Amino acid sequence: MSAPTMPSRPGPVGPDTYLTGPYTPVTDEVDVADLQVEGELPADLDGAYLRNGPNPRFSPIGSYLFPLDGDGMLHRVEVSGGRARYSNRFVRTPMVRKEEEVGHALWGGLTTPWRPGADEVGAELAGSMRELPDINVVRHGGRLLALAECKQPYRIGPQLETLEKDSFDGQVPAGICAHPKIDPRTGEMVAFCYNFAPPFLTWTVVRPDGTATPPRPVEGVERPAMIHDMAITERYVVIVVAPLFFDIAAARSGGSLLDWNERAGTRIALIPRGGGPVRWCEDEVFWLWHTANAHDAKDPVDGADVVVLDYIEWPRPSPIAPGPAVQGHLARAVVDPAAGTVRRTVVDDVVGEFPRIDDRLLGRAHPVSAFATGTGRPTPHPDCWDALAWHDTGSGVVTRWEAPELAVGEPVFAPDPTSDAPDSGWWLTFATSYATHGSSLLVIPAADPASGPVARVRMPVRVPLGLHGNWMPTT
Ligand SMILES: [Fe+2]
Repeated sequence: MSAPTMPSRPGPVGPDTYLTGPYTPVTDEVDVADLQVEGELPADLDGAYLRNGPNPRFSPIGSYLFPLDGDGMLHRVEVSGGRARYSNRFVRTPMVRKEEEVGHALWGGLTTPWRPGADEVGAELAGSMRELPDINVVRHGGRLLALAECKQPYRIGPQLETLEKDSFDGQVPAGICAHPKIDPRTGEMVAFCYNFAPPFLTWTVVRPDGTATPPRPVEGVERPAMIHDMAITERYVVIVVAPLFFDIAAARSGGSLLDWNERAGTRIALIPRGGGPVRWCEDEVFWLWHTANAHDAKDPVDGADVVVLDYIEWPRPSPIAPGPAVQGHLARAVVDPAAGTVRRTVVDDVVGEFPRIDDRLLGRAHPVSAFATGTGRPTPHPDCWDALAWHDTGSGVVTRWEAPELAVGEPVFAPDPTSDAPDSGWWLTFATSYATHGSSLLVIPAADPASGPVARVRMPVRVPLGLHGNWMPTT
């Protein structure tokens, strides 16, 4: 990506609410066994919860745009036999390593894209932009990957050490999105990648053995657009293309790189996984950061073959698109590939984000969507969630657990290894106290989430509010 270069290195950012309170970055990297547990960890819970998120290695210079800026930090809680241990490590990109050599930040933030020259960082990194593999962390086919937004991911070692960038042995050179979907039936990892030059959107499948299909263009995309998440069904790859376009020319002349053009509407691409032309379905404008899941179904209205997509719907991509404050709501879209139509319903008038399901059901109908939500009380810091919610997709009932003293993150499902029943297991999330800024891992029984955590695992260092993670069972 090309970006305007500033005439001189910008100074430190001023006070920034996203660098304070539960957002305050940590710099200590620790390994601590036998964590203090309030309550009791389930004896059958055996594996590791990993989470990624922005955590600048040094005080940022120029600007800091949460959650897009920052270096990645991986937090891992390993659980076995009712005990837990913790480790955290930076994702050490070449930029982080170079900054560690000099002891301060060298690259500016996204909106002050200072790119250091060869005199400061050497010829290889001169003019480069900071890499941001701080969004998600997944395990697939023996690879542990820290994911950026449509770039090559960084491969992570067993001690959370950063290895090299991973192009899947050269098969996927442009990289993948931060929200690939791993099909629990086939083991395939399906991903897209947007590009600034044609083809503007491609998709690929990485098999469990590491072989991958060459990235294939998604026909019908005429401009580069920002797309954050996706979904799969057994038959389709589902990609929602909202009119948040990249405007490279504007960025080069000092304008905004991203242009929200709501007159263009939102389109949904249904890409047959088995081959065949893309089916585009058009609708009025809406935005989504995150999907919960999708599945193939018969339309209850007319019996047509449709795709059902559950997601969090936003009127526009806050905070990128300017305008009054907006909120996201759980929503369902029924997409008819033959008719090219979309029928959307806000499932519940409850605000939220970070929707997740029992990932064993990814691509098939799921009984429950979990997400982070709010109690409605003012929080001491912006964009904090202080409750979790579970939406029963059959009955429409929403179950809540509120914790107004805590900032909670994305709920992630850890299945009970002794049961194949849907939603048998526990929901995990990191939570940070507004009062002490101390963090815990909460373990909430899926059978009765309203009862709250059965265990709160005390973290030895703060886990700043961050982004996405996954449960990786011991197998
Ligand atoms: Fe995300």
